[in-house]
Amino acid sequence: MPRLQRIWTESPPVVRALGAQALVFLALLSLSRLFPPLRALPAWVWLLAQGGGAAALGLFWGLGPWWRAFQLLLPFALSWQAMHQVSPWFYPAALALLFLVYGGGLLTRVPLYNSNRAAWEALLALLPEGEPLRMVDLGAGLGGPLRFLAEHRPEARFLGVEASPLVWLLAWLRTRPVRANCTMRLGSLWKEDLGAFEVVYAFLSPAPMPELGRKALAEMAPGSLLLSHTFPIPELRPERSIPLPGRPGACLLVYRMG
Ligand SMILES: C[S@@+](CC[C@H](N)C(=O)[O-])C[C@H]1O[C@@H](n2cnc3c(N)ncnc32)[C@H](O)[C@@H]1O
Repeated sequence: MPRLQRIWTESPPVVRALGAQALVFLALLSLSRLFPPLRALPAWVWLLAQGGGAAALGLFWGLGPWWRAFQLLLPFALSWQAMHQVSPWFYPAALALLFLVYGGGLLTRVPLYNSNRAAWEALLALLPEGEPLRMVDLGAGLGGPLRFLAEHRPEARFLGVEASPLVWLLAWLRTRPVRANCTMRLGSLWKEDLGAFEVVYAFLSPAPMPELGRKALAEMAPGSLLLSHTFPIPELRPERSIPLPGRPGACLLVYRMG
């Protein structure tokens, strides 16, 4: 597969989805210029052509069924919105709220969902007592695991890195009682130097795991631990896999850096 085509098909789905909408829109615009009688067609035909075309292009570009349904419905939703009176602030405010909660994971393709107490206890069991080790949670979410671990291992130091501003703020507030040994940083996990930690924990999604594996191999010291909740790292073999109750297929994968 040519390089440009590979980069495009591996780009985030949101980029491909918007690219498909833009391309189909330009194609339909050109068509209406070239054949003016087509402009007499009812609006729903144009909307269907826009949505259907973008969904078909999405199929060709490897978008999943949910994305294709979204492609099909988007022009109808936009036209409904254009025909109904809503406060001009509503959509920008909704978009801003979504961005504040989910924006950080958009390009990394990691949504917000929380690990449960079983995962926190499995993590705790892997941290030896009485050792001043440093641990980072990459994509710390609402800070649940870090707060729990910092309470139970006061001698260790914990850092959470979170890219979504509102989620970071909630985690920052939640970890205030353990601020002595737990800090929260707003920013991207890709900017964190993993060499500074004896334990690195991540609960992300399948998408960023190959990149995370390469980063860990380049930066983490021999003997340090990389813990991945559920999603395996393709280049590495886990030393252990600890099943986690409460979520089908969930496990804690333990990688020791060689
Ligand atoms: C599945 S949640 C995990 C929450 C927490 N670590 C836990 O185990 O409960 C993943 C989090 O990673 C964040 N995230 C996604 N991409 C990120 C990035 N590039 N840098 C920092 N955080 C990111 C998301 O905003 C989300 O809050």
